[in-house]
Amino acid sequence: TPIENIRNFSIIAHVDHGKSTLADRLLEITGAIEVNSGKQILDKLQVEKERGITVKAQTASVNYTYKGIKYLLNLIDTPGHVDFSAEVHRSLTPCQGVILIVDANDGVQAQTVANFHLAVKHNLVIVPVINKIDLKYANPDRVVNQLETLFDIKQSDVLKISAKLGTGVSKVLDAVVERIPPPDVCRDKPFRALIFDSWYEKYKGTILLIYIKEGSLSLKQHVVSMYNKKPYEVRTISLLRPSEEVVNKLFAGQIGCISCNLKSSNETIIGDTLHLKDYVTEPLLGFKAPKPMVFSGLYPIEKSEFEVLKTAIEKLILNDSSVTVAMETSVALGQGWRLGFLGLLHMEVFMQRLEQEYGAHSVVTTPSVTYKAKIFGKKNVKQYRTDMISFNNPANFPDPNIVEEFYEPMVLGTIIAPIEHIGTVMNLCFERRGIQQMTKDIGHNRTMFQFLLPLNEIIVDFHDVLKRVTSGYGTFDYEDSGYEPANIVKLNIALNGKVVEEFSTIVHASKARAIGRQICEKMLNILPRQMFEIAIQAIVSGKVLARENLKAYKKDVTAKLYGGDVTRRMKLLAQQAEGKKKMKMIGKICVPRETFINLLKK
Ligand code: GTP
Repeated sequence: TPIENIRNFSIIAHVDHGKSTLADRLLEITGAIEVNSGKQILDKLQVEKERGITVKAQTASVNYTYKGIKYLLNLIDTPGHVDFSAEVHRSLTPCQGVILIVDANDGVQAQTVANFHLAVKHNLVIVPVINKIDLKYANPDRVVNQLETLFDIKQSDVLKISAKLGTGVSKVLDAVVERIPPPDVCRDKPFRALIFDSWYEKYKGTILLIYIKEGSLSLKQHVVSMYNKKPYEVRTISLLRPSEEVVNKLFAGQIGCISCNLKSSNETIIGDTLHLKDYVTEPLLGFKAPKPMVFSGLYPIEKSEFEVLKTAIEKLILNDSSVTVAMETSVALGQGWRLGFLGLLHMEVFMQRLEQEYGAHSVVTTPSVTYKAKIFGKKNVKQYRTDMISFNNPANFPDPNIVEEFYEPMVLGTIIAPIEHIGTVMNLCFERRGIQQMTKDIGHNRTMFQFLLPLNEIIVDFHDVLKRVTSGYGTFDYEDSGYEPANIVKLNIALNGKVVEEFSTIVHASKARAIGRQICEKMLNILPRQMFEIAIQAIVSGKVLARENLKAYKKDVTAKLYGGDVTRRMKLLAQQAEGKKKMKMIGKICVPRETFINLLKK
């Protein structure tokens, strides 16, 4: 296909506005898949099918004939959830345009706003599409007005479709051909390509998804990655249509897969440039690596499963380059890792994939963001080389006596909710220490809010609570907004006066008491009784903020508990003996590995 007949585009939208459904229809129209061959062809992963969300961006190269001319369309399906925005960023790199979908019923939502700005930032042509016009109460004209007032989109440019029924879908492809320019690439130069995704396959090893910017690439040629400078022989080349189609050569403008005997995840990085061996060249302008925002320790549930988990993590991060990994050890949980994620859903999906795709079971410690601390003067503290330190692990919380000021990461959150929920949304944001920036009526009975919020306050349950208080209508997206001074403290949990490091968390001083109380209560329920009473305390800087007493284990109590069922009691004792190996002693107290795991579970 000549370069001028290639179109590279992506479909972006708020979650559930119909990206995957439209992608399926587009594949059907172009004959890439059969009509009704099953739903959501591009959502391949089990977690995507179960959760009904797209996690990984997927690519499909299809042919489309427009006014008698054959075009090659490279379509990249992207996830909608904010936690996977790294995937969206990445997917936009080879694109010259996007289809921006908006649900005719819901109108513009938080991620629509974020996606629109992202497309503008990348200089992409936007094809605005209103989807689900078949819905009974759909009001496409109202959404058209919204697009005009919010984004300056011309009414006449907006397409109205039903991805479900196929209404108007071919017009979308026509608009892609007409409005989106061909890629800016060159075939008369030596080969250069951008690696923009990778994954692991059992027999071929690592597969690289590349966008060829210059020249062409054939089988058996040797490519070098700028990152590790090693040459690799190209063993297989294929196009994703969307199932793999083996080809002998790739040309500039195309997106294709190659395998070249890369074995481990650290031999390549997403965003890296590939070039031919013996041709010295410059790296292509890549994209900024996404910055993980949420960190957790990850440990095998059984210590014996360490190796399984290790291999699983290595393979999975090949396919999810936004996760960062470092080793970590804990006295109770053993050898593990500290992983960085873009958000909590990202973390949950990663864990689920570890389990479903690799059979690896794990437990994660309470997530934390990255804090900073300014250390007093120069004179002191040999252990820190600079006077501004960062930490995301409670174990590395600096001694408050040497800290001049703590800082926490902030985000600019955009919330869109129905007008009747203004009060609830504001209350929620204030409760989360939010600072109001802007409130605006955006038509369609919706209000848009912008709040500066501490990241720490939104990572765990903000999105869920927002959904709950707005009957499911509120939507949320956020972007990085630097650091602000914050009164943070390390909250320790002590058993009979002995601090259990694994249970420590970093919290805002104003929330320490409430969170401490919660942990103590939970601990009371999951820690097994012992021969003596145990004081469970939440402590900040030596001050006890909350306390629960776990009564000593007494005969009459157990008799009541187990109703005199001897076999049950025996079984329990046997289980306990088995569990002895997996206990940690905190002073004289046995804390089973299970207690750690249960406390960390939600
Ligand atoms: P994520 O991948 O999670 O970001 O979602 P998505 O944007 O890909 O949405 P998806 O295609 O999964 O569609 C979400 C829901 O909307 C599904 O239940 C679809 O069946 C439904 N849907 C999509 N398009 C239409 C449409 O044109 N009309 C109607 N009535 N429903 C639609």
